Amino acid sequence: MQVRHFLQFKDLTQSELDYLFRRAAVLKRMLKQGELYQPLIAQSLAMIFQKNSTRTRVSFETGMYQLGGTALFLSPRDTQLGRAEPIEDTARVLSRMVNIVMIRTFEQEIVERFAKHSAVPVINGLTDEYHPCQILADIFTYIEKRGPIKGRTVAWIGDSNNVCNSWMQAAQILDFNLHVCTPPGYEIEPERVGNFDSMHVECFTNPNEAAIGADLVTTDVWTSMGYEDETEERKLDFADFRVDEEMMQLAHPDALFMHCLPAHRGEEVQAEVIDGPQSVVWDEAENRLHTQKALMEFLLIGKVQ
Ligand code: CP
Ligand code: NVA
Repeated sequence: MQVRHFLQFKDLTQSELDYLFRRAAVLKRMLKQGELYQPLIAQSLAMIFQKNSTRTRVSFETGMYQLGGTALFLSPRDTQLGRAEPIEDTARVLSRMVNIVMIRTFEQEIVERFAKHSAVPVINGLTDEYHPCQILADIFTYIEKRGPIKGRTVAWIGDSNNVCNSWMQAAQILDFNLHVCTPPGYEIEPERVGNFDSMHVECFTNPNEAAIGADLVTTDVWTSMGYEDETEERKLDFADFRVDEEMMQLAHPDALFMHCLPAHRGEEVQAEVIDGPQSVVWDEAENRLHTQKALMEFLLIGKVQ
């Protein structure tokens, strides 16, 4: 079987994504029913974290364990990566010892170089440019709650960051509309995301206008990891880009609210929204586990149903 990676959302086709969403639902049901399913006995996942994480680490580690395998947490603090061992050499060595690798790092180029020298599947667990695993979970959550996402409208309010870039790729592949509303100076950067598809992505300057009629409103922190020096400036620049109740009222009455978390109540989202009835953030976080189990199973075994 040819080695497949998941470095960007567009690395999977529409039919593979549809399969993963169906499979994640099956794996979730099996877990809830207490059914043991361990196709990955004696297999191991190496998780390289060059940035902090709660959800990504716990969902991958627990997911691999539930599938019968084991997971290793590797940080630059206690590996040779922190002492400048080339990423290519690390890829060659790890892929002789483990079966699959997940990396959270800075530039997308790092995961691309790793994958090029890896004999085993590599998963992007977040880079400066993309966070594809997050969007797998978000769309699975949407489907669970409201059915197919095709033709629906998602409003992205905030920074044109890694999560936003992955939403843009998803809109094109899964054929839904994405309203992207960023403050001046934080617009989508085509050089980071490639040419975005104006059939599916519409840019707005007024967040309330972007939310009108949306089936899903979503946002993220104003300052992503790696950009901490800009925190104070961003607080001023993003002040009018908080998802609040007024904005949610402009969305479709049935609209959901999502946030990849961690959240800052009172900054990018009003507490009444994230803790309110339209918010599905806890299911969204849990679904990282189920979708990533489906992803690891797919990359290691292929389709099983
Ligand atoms: N949403 C997300 O990736 O969370 P962590 O940073 O906690 O992994
Ligand atoms: N955009 C955020 C996502 C955190 C899960 C970041 O990169 O920090």
